[in-house]
Amino acid sequence: MAKVSAPGKVILFGEHAVVYGEPALAVAVNLRTTCAAMPSRRVLVNDAEPNRMRDAYILSSIVSGWAYLDRKVSVWVSSSVPTSSGLGSSAALCVACVGALRALEGDIDTEDIAKRAFDAEYRAQGGASPTDTSTSAHGSGVLLAKEMTDGYLWTVTKGENVWHVHHRAVPKVGIVVGDTGVRASTAMMVGKVRRFVERNAFARDLVKEIGEITMEGARALEKNDLELTGRLMERNHRLLLTLGAGHPMLDKLVRAVKPHSYGAKLTGKGGGGSIVALTDRPEKAAAAIEASGGKAYVLSPADRGVGVDEA
Ligand code: MEV
Repeated sequence: MAKVSAPGKVILFGEHAVVYGEPALAVAVNLRTTCAAMPSRRVLVNDAEPNRMRDAYILSSIVSGWAYLDRKVSVWVSSSVPTSSGLGSSAALCVACVGALRALEGDIDTEDIAKRAFDAEYRAQGGASPTDTSTSAHGSGVLLAKEMTDGYLWTVTKGENVWHVHHRAVPKVGIVVGDTGVRASTAMMVGKVRRFVERNAFARDLVKEIGEITMEGARALEKNDLELTGRLMERNHRLLLTLGAGHPMLDKLVRAVKPHSYGAKLTGKGGGGSIVALTDRPEKAAAAIEASGGKAYVLSPADRGVGVDEA
């Protein structure tokens, strides 16, 4: 039996644009998914026959993580990452499951797990960037960039896209998430934005602008310039709305936290899901979110990425 856990994440800059090879900056957070795995005579998920739809990410992770395709495995999963909320629940699931299978084979290597988990998520979702899986695998802050720079970890490629993955330290600042309660699937939102980007030069310009803001945001965060970081997050939010990833409830929560934060924006796929705010007054930001009908999570960065837990 091997038991492995991996964190969820928030994206501070660059979601959607990163799918087209632009940069993104994400932070692993203290919500985790755990997967225990044991070889068995047939594939079982939480002691039941797997369901192809419900367990798509787990089944895909078994294909990507298990070296011997003819061998079967029983997995048990549990998670504190809310699903379909933009907090990286699918990536944490893929990273934890791939990690547990690699641990069974005695081969826990973070880069290898990040790459296999990206393949698993990409296949189950029909498209993805490695942002969520690399952040969940590494922990801490992660910058995906077009060029290699300080803190280089590994490179992920898919088709024409090349993402260089880097470690980034996270400044001491409160991270508050506001979940709208409106559910949207990542596959659907990535598909919606993709149709816009493929057909429209204006959308492609938006994607490039998000990429530029992401690199500016990464530099601002490195200098601990939280005022500038917050302003750039709000610009990123407006560009994401124009790209089609908005929802009225996301705007309502962004407006509600504004007086209590450096900045806020939708995080993850949008169309519902969550906002993220950087703040020195997390309790006030959380209260404003709850008063506007959202569910607030006061989170902290998780330095620990994928790792073996006591079985
Ligand atoms: C989802 O957390 C972030 C997206 O950019 C999709 C991806 O990067 O795979 C919307």
